[in-house]
Amino acid sequence: MNPFIFPEESNSLVKKHLSQKICKLLEQLNTDSGFTLEKAIHSGLKNPDSAIGIYAGDAQSYQTFSPVFDPVILEYHGGVENLKHKSDIRELDLPVLDPEEKYILSTRIRIARNLKGFSFPCHMTLSQRRELEKKIITALSCLKGNLKWNYYSFEHADKKELKRLETKNFWFQKGDRFQDAAGINSDFPKCRGVYLSFDKQLMVWVNEEDHLRIISLEKASDLSKVYNRLCQAILALSQTLDFAWDKTYGHLTSCPTNIGTSMRAGVHIQLEKLEQKKELLFQLIKAYNLQIRGTRGEKTKIENAVFDISNSQRLGISESRIIQNLHAGLLAIIKAEKSL
Ligand code: ADP
Ligand code: ARG
Repeated sequence: MNPFIFPEESNSLVKKHLSQKICKLLEQLNTDSGFTLEKAIHSGLKNPDSAIGIYAGDAQSYQTFSPVFDPVILEYHGGVENLKHKSDIRELDLPVLDPEEKYILSTRIRIARNLKGFSFPCHMTLSQRRELEKKIITALSCLKGNLKWNYYSFEHADKKELKRLETKNFWFQKGDRFQDAAGINSDFPKCRGVYLSFDKQLMVWVNEEDHLRIISLEKASDLSKVYNRLCQAILALSQTLDFAWDKTYGHLTSCPTNIGTSMRAGVHIQLEKLEQKKELLFQLIKAYNLQIRGTRGEKTKIENAVFDISNSQRLGISESRIIQNLHAGLLAIIKAEKSL
């Protein structure tokens, strides 16, 4: 019998794909860092409303536990047979999406990175997190020009300064119950922090769901500008940091939903008319491979007709292609909103 009992009401992908046979095959295995199947699926077991329910504790998890990761990845990302994931991080020059600033409130692009040779955040000791934070701070200190500024450690930065960052949303909270059950919140807020560029348009979250979340953000609709800033940051950091990478799965992340480019590029866009014509909005979203999230992030509601619209594809597609698709999709959505 499967020793892991998923809640009856659970519809997670891990529950669907972890058959008794696969469970038997994997339950005694460990990665070199000691990560197990039980740890990988703990969040899915604890949270019946998990959509996915599995996390990787290190890069090797994707191989050691491939009989369960592979079908989850296949169902979430679509066909990956004979896939060689190719990265294409290069600057683009696309027209501003909403020059009159009527619809788009802000543009945000994030990518995730984990360092080769370190366990991933759900499987790290305090001393490993400390070593990693030190390494990342050294790498961040090499950023130049507009990307240069300051690292705010959640442990050591001035409390008033941290409060200010929190009210301005330049900060991340302790992870949600899904991340908590996975072990990502261990020792929070120790070894966590945020790097902010002088103009506050580049942010790097350290030791959140992944070792690094590199975020470019602006209260405007110039997608190329936001993307190009991200390209500069990631290319500069790649000079000194070695990232976990797989030729099929691309960049390896804690959650299998983020592998590939690990990129979520999107806008906060106010669509008062389309909110009343949801079927049309959903058609456009589908046609351009986009997704909708709530105004305050994942698993939140739409407030004031402000939708978070971003790419839904991450694997088997390049970063530049994601941005071009998103640009085309948003132009179509703005056109539809205007016509109503
Ligand atoms: P992820 O970091 O995986 O994209 P979330 O969906 O939870 O996860 O988003 C993280 C935070 O970024 C949330 O507070 C969300 O409201 C904010 N956010 C997302 N997109 C935008 C945007 N275009 N403009 C401003 N804030 C955004
Ligand atoms: N583990 C959660 C679930 O299965 C979240 C999955 C995607 N989100 C994320 N932040 N990785 O529903």
